[in-house]
Amino acid sequence: MFRTLRSDIACILERDPAARGTLEVLFCYPGLHAIYIHKLARWLWLRRLYWLGRFTSHVGRFLTGIEIHPCARIGSCVFIDHGMGVVIGETAEVGDGCTIYQGVTLGGTSLYRGTKRHPTLAAGVVVGAGAKVLGGFTVGEGARVGSNAVVVKEVPAGATVVGIPGRIVEDQGAKSERFNAYAVVLEHDDPYAKAIQQLVEHSQELERTLASGLSNKTVVTCCIPKVLCPTKSVGFRVYLTALIRY
Ligand SMILES: CC(C)(COP(=O)(O)OP(=O)(O)OC[C@H]1O[C@@H](n2cnc3c(N)ncnc32)[C@H](O)[C@@H]1OP(=O)(O)O)[C@@H](O)C(=O)NCCC(=O)NCCS
Repeated sequence: MFRTLRSDIACILERDPAARGTLEVLFCYPGLHAIYIHKLARWLWLRRLYWLGRFTSHVGRFLTGIEIHPCARIGSCVFIDHGMGVVIGETAEVGDGCTIYQGVTLGGTSLYRGTKRHPTLAAGVVVGAGAKVLGGFTVGEGARVGSNAVVVKEVPAGATVVGIPGRIVEDQGAKSERFNAYAVVLEHDDPYAKAIQQLVEHSQELERTLASGLSNKTVVTCCIPKVLCPTKSVGFRVYLTALIRY
């Protein structure tokens, strides 16, 4: 028990740059308190003391702002940072070394009793603040869920998921070992951002082609004046001029 507590505290010290020492983690980290209250609630639940288990979990929620159903399985070295508003459902499983930030829901989308309704987080998953992982699927080992993402489908190991609904922006098993605090990745390969960038480049290329296709004289004499078309882009005004002339 004390060895587990020591290793849980060590995990927190390792993953939270704001943590200054063992005593601070022991007394001021609701995520740690919630996990130990959950251990007690689960112990009672497994001994068929369902009401008492549920009540213990409720007291834990009252004290920490973190709701963990007594039936949920929580691995070792799980770090719930800040914690307020975290909800972990009945059939959820949280693997060893996972990190969960405030406002995360590991919830279900179906109402069928006795089925696996909540997600399984494999080892080392990081779920960013406010993210919702909904459904009885697995989030693969080392995957990262961006803040405020809504994940409704299985996530492969090592992948990074962002957005609503969650989409994969990075899927490299090799990178899965690295820990990214707050599930923030700087080298994002967001497909939406890439598409917008391509559109901008295409429009610039179009402007250049139009500008070079018309002689300088044509540009000067035929270009719609800025007063009639108050856009900063000379290329766009040339394009309009060419269209009108055509
Ligand atoms: C929105 C919701 C009601 C849709 O349920 P559904 O009809 O079964 O929808 P499906 O799972 O068939 O998904 C349909 C589409 O909506 C998308 N989708 C599902 N839930 C979504 C959500 N919450 N946000 C954005 N998109 C969502 C799916 O990706 C899918 O898109 P696709 O067809 O392009 O693949 C459900 O997913 C949901 O979010 N329920 C709330 C659950 C909740 O809050 N639980 C908390 C328990 S503690």
